[in-house]
Amino acid sequence: MTTVLITGGAGYIGSHTVLALLEAGHEVVVLDNLCNASRESLRRVERLSGRTPAFVQGDIRDRALLDRLFHEHAVSAVIHFAGLKSVGESVAQPLAYYENNVAGTLTLCQAMQAAGVTRLVFSSSATVYGDGHPMPLHEGLPTGQPTNPYGRSKLMVEELLGDLAASDASWSIGLLRYFNPVGAHPSGEIGEDPRGIPNNLLPYVAQVAVGRRERLAVYGDDYATPDGTGVRDYIHVMDLAAGHLCALNALGEREGVHIWNLGTGQGHSVLEVVRAFERASGRAVPFRIEPRRAGDVAACWADAALAERELGWKAERGLEEMMADTWRWQRQNPQGYSQDD
Ligand code: NAD
Ligand code: WQD
Repeated sequence: MTTVLITGGAGYIGSHTVLALLEAGHEVVVLDNLCNASRESLRRVERLSGRTPAFVQGDIRDRALLDRLFHEHAVSAVIHFAGLKSVGESVAQPLAYYENNVAGTLTLCQAMQAAGVTRLVFSSSATVYGDGHPMPLHEGLPTGQPTNPYGRSKLMVEELLGDLAASDASWSIGLLRYFNPVGAHPSGEIGEDPRGIPNNLLPYVAQVAVGRRERLAVYGDDYATPDGTGVRDYIHVMDLAAGHLCALNALGEREGVHIWNLGTGQGHSVLEVVRAFERASGRAVPFRIEPRRAGDVAACWADAALAERELGWKAERGLEEMMADTWRWQRQNPQGYSQDD
């Protein structure tokens, strides 16, 4: 079993992946500065797994800290989640996004290189495909022009990692392009806990259902989609976590850069999501149709065949399960982790 450094491991996708790795018997070291997470997520991971990951509170931009961490722990691979992820905020604060996401990854790679750690799984995003491709999106398509600094930061990191792998064959790097992660662990103990008003659809819907928000704004019903609302490939965070484990294993036998979409291959509209959530929760989700949101595309879903062929991984959970698990998490934790460290 390997020791894996998980940056951003206290966050939404990170905490579910830490749990999956602990359950698979790996040793885990989490590095997180807690800028968008709570220590409580990892306490709950400990309870669920009966194991304790090492936790270092700190920043991926802190080179001295990284050098110490690699010196103290026999890390053989890194799963890199740490970064900022709000599209709107990235437009207002581009420098913070390039500093955290691009410069942070650069510092992490420099420290890995110095420590001789060359296996890396990176959290990329379907946003790097940009607009204008026919659906579904497959990994062979050229990357496009993301419409915001967040998306550009992901694309820059993909290119940086490609150059690094081309310069030195000892690197083996997985770029995982997530579609729309939703859901929570089936226990309802860990889940997504956005700070402030949620930007993403599912956390907003869940907060309406639980009574924290009055109604959902549906951004546009005049798209060229079956019911006019936007279509996305929602993927259960448990499936996503399992995908990281498969990628980590696959990279152990490969060199160079490998790109894998992590999606279900199926699209669902905003209204389908709302109806499914109402069924799962037994609560009404009032909504009002509002103008389209700037930067949104009509539809986006994955061709998920490559990950199935090369990783032996396939998303197993459908929309009903995604909604039921989101609702259990929301109902049991109406205020999230309460951010009370
Ligand atoms: P999250 O905000 O819950 O997790 C990110 C974690 O990184 C947080 O715990 C935060 O405290 C930590 N962090 C941020 N900057 C840091 C830094 N400089 N040093 C150390 N820790 C830092 O987000 P998430 O949804 O779990 O996303 C994880 C990764 O996946 C991110 O890189 C995100 O861009 C990417 N991603 C997310 C989605 C999505 O919709 N959730 C989609 C595609 C890609
Ligand atoms: C989904 C659908 C909205 C909120 C974003 C990032 C992307 C990736 C995932 C990280 C769209 C509609 C939403 C609301 C709504 N993140 N919607 N009312 O925009 O597909 O992707 O998160 O990499 O980069 O751009 O996800 O959840 O915001 O929206 O009607 O209050 O729900 O218009 O059709 P999106 P989302």
